[in-house]
Amino acid sequence: MAEILIGVTGGIAAYKTATIVSQLCQRGHGVSVVMTESAMEFVGKSTFEALSGRPVRDSLFCSDKVHVHIELSRAADLFCIAPATANILSKAANGIADDLLSTIILSFDKTIIFAPAMNPVMWNKPVIQHNVRKLIEFGATIIHPDSGRTSCGEIGVGRMASPELILNEIEKNICTIQQ
Ligand SMILES: Cc1cc2nc3c(=O)[nH]c(=O)nc-3n(C[C@H](O)[C@H](O)[C@H](O)COP(=O)(O)O)c2cc1C
Repeated sequence: MAEILIGVTGGIAAYKTATIVSQLCQRGHGVSVVMTESAMEFVGKSTFEALSGRPVRDSLFCSDKVHVHIELSRAADLFCIAPATANILSKAANGIADDLLSTIILSFDKTIIFAPAMNPVMWNKPVIQHNVRKLIEFGATIIHPDSGRTSCGEIGVGRMASPELILNEIEKNICTIQQ
């Protein structure tokens, strides 16, 4: 069993992450969830708190923990960001740490998995593809988005990979870590 940190950023696919958290907990893993401010526009903290049985963190500055980013980073075996917005991919690729989630990415020294989800035009922007390549070079795993109709009605590559595929990738990495 492993300690898994799930990062949720601001996209419609955030609701699918509830399935990922639920499944990981049912499989016996310890799961903590960190959300961006935008993510909370899509899914409430209470959903992830109920599923994980733990408080959801959304701020660097909280009254009960001074170094919340370091504590969460050190406690987890693996960090999976799903959905990963164009914004978080770009911040992570460029070392920007201006909120809790991005600061954890920078202070995390184990496996990081990104499951991007966005409009196909956004996904195909050279700057986003450049940032994705940078993240791969830096050692991150990218779960390629699926092709199809996105929530905005446009068709192309950009839908977040299925929760099953993301769960498989997490489990595969945990097995490698624990060998
Ligand atoms: C309805 C709606 C849906 C959105 N869906 C996405 C999305 O799927 N992917 C994405 O990269 N940005 C999406 N955005 C834009 C992000 O929420 C926005 O870039 C935000 O600043 C991301 O912040 P975060 O990365 O800190 O969560 C959406 C915005 C709205 C209003």
